[in-house]
Amino acid sequence: MLSNKLKNITPSYTIGISSKVAQLQEKGISICNLSIGEPDFNVPIKAKDVAIDALNNNKTKYDSVSGVNELKQEIIRKLKDENNANYDLDEIVISSGAKHAITNTLISILNPGDEVLVPKPYWVSYPEMIKLCSGVPVFVDTDRKNNFKITVSDIKKNISSKTKMLFLSNPSNPTGAIYTREELENIVDICIKNNIYILADEIYEKISYEDDFVSIASLSSKAKDITITINGFSKSVAMTGMRVGYSASNKTISRGISTVQGHLVSHPSTISQWCAYGALKYCSNDIDDMVKIYKKKRDLAIDMLSKINYIDYIYPKGAFYMFIDISNLKNKLDYKDSFSVEFCDKLLSNNNVAAVPGIAFGMDDYIRISYACSEENLVNGIKGIEEFVNSLL
Ligand SMILES: Cc1ncc(COP(=O)(O)O)c(C=O)c1O
Repeated sequence: MLSNKLKNITPSYTIGISSKVAQLQEKGISICNLSIGEPDFNVPIKAKDVAIDALNNNKTKYDSVSGVNELKQEIIRKLKDENNANYDLDEIVISSGAKHAITNTLISILNPGDEVLVPKPYWVSYPEMIKLCSGVPVFVDTDRKNNFKITVSDIKKNISSKTKMLFLSNPSNPTGAIYTREELENIVDICIKNNIYILADEIYEKISYEDDFVSIASLSSKAKDITITINGFSKSVAMTGMRVGYSASNKTISRGISTVQGHLVSHPSTISQWCAYGALKYCSNDIDDMVKIYKKKRDLAIDMLSKINYIDYIYPKGAFYMFIDISNLKNKLDYKDSFSVEFCDKLLSNNNVAAVPGIAFGMDDYIRISYACSEENLVNGIKGIEEFVNSLL
């Protein structure tokens, strides 16, 4: 009854966890939920005010497919001032969230059977998005010693005549690793030489604690030409439910993305776009305040996790996740198919803590927690992890 395409699609692990959490909560059990990648903040007031004004002023008609002009202008300003990348108006398309910007891009670029390099660990939706858009995800192993950041030699091992694109999540979900300028330059070089587009998912750009974040498109005009930069407002301004993201790409690709978007959704909600405009124009201080709080929680999480025996983690320089290595506990738990799923199931049922199994990101020896939650939830959740680990020993 359903399409062949859907038969290959894995249901979302994160949605599976959320429904288990909901079932337990319905029974009155209180859960420390560390599984959700959603900021624990409200949309900043100034952004809300702009959205409310837009509604009151009836900015509710169909608008341009590629997005509200004022927001596109503001994005161009931001890309220039903050990322040192110059774009024209017809190189920006605003979509209903970064997810939508990514799928628009894939529909515009991929032919059936085209291969897309996906570094492991990957964000859960990448492989499924690629498959839904007729592409073939090619998973690329990366080195733990390099904090799982992909290198030129990792890429070389996986290039074929069908390779069309490389996905790069920077800062990374799930590891929080951030690429240096030099690392990005090397990646761009090999992609230019092999005619490979780079889908640069920079949605966690603002949440970067130590080194300066470098946007790939800023590296050179050639780098800009092969890169489709994806960004959005869900993580940086806590606007998850407003659904606004965007792509910045060369004119040909942008035109393709607009064509796809025009037929599928016309454009994202105008009121949400005005909210995003308000966020860009008036809320940089709110963003800085949120990032300070994430950094405090990251340091707290590192401090607590460092004291737990048998586990280790990737040191996160950005985003709001910790990717925790549980491989030393593998022989302490009976499991059938997936160690990380069994670990997370038991952690939830025995200690009321929800985390995401690493297999969702292609790595079964890990789990991912998010610290974008309340401090109380974070502290109790990590205490729960410690108790669970100790119960296995
Ligand atoms: C790496 C990455 N890209 C894109 C998205 C999607 O963001 P949006 O809410 O803008 O669709 C997420 C959300 O979790 C993400 O982690």
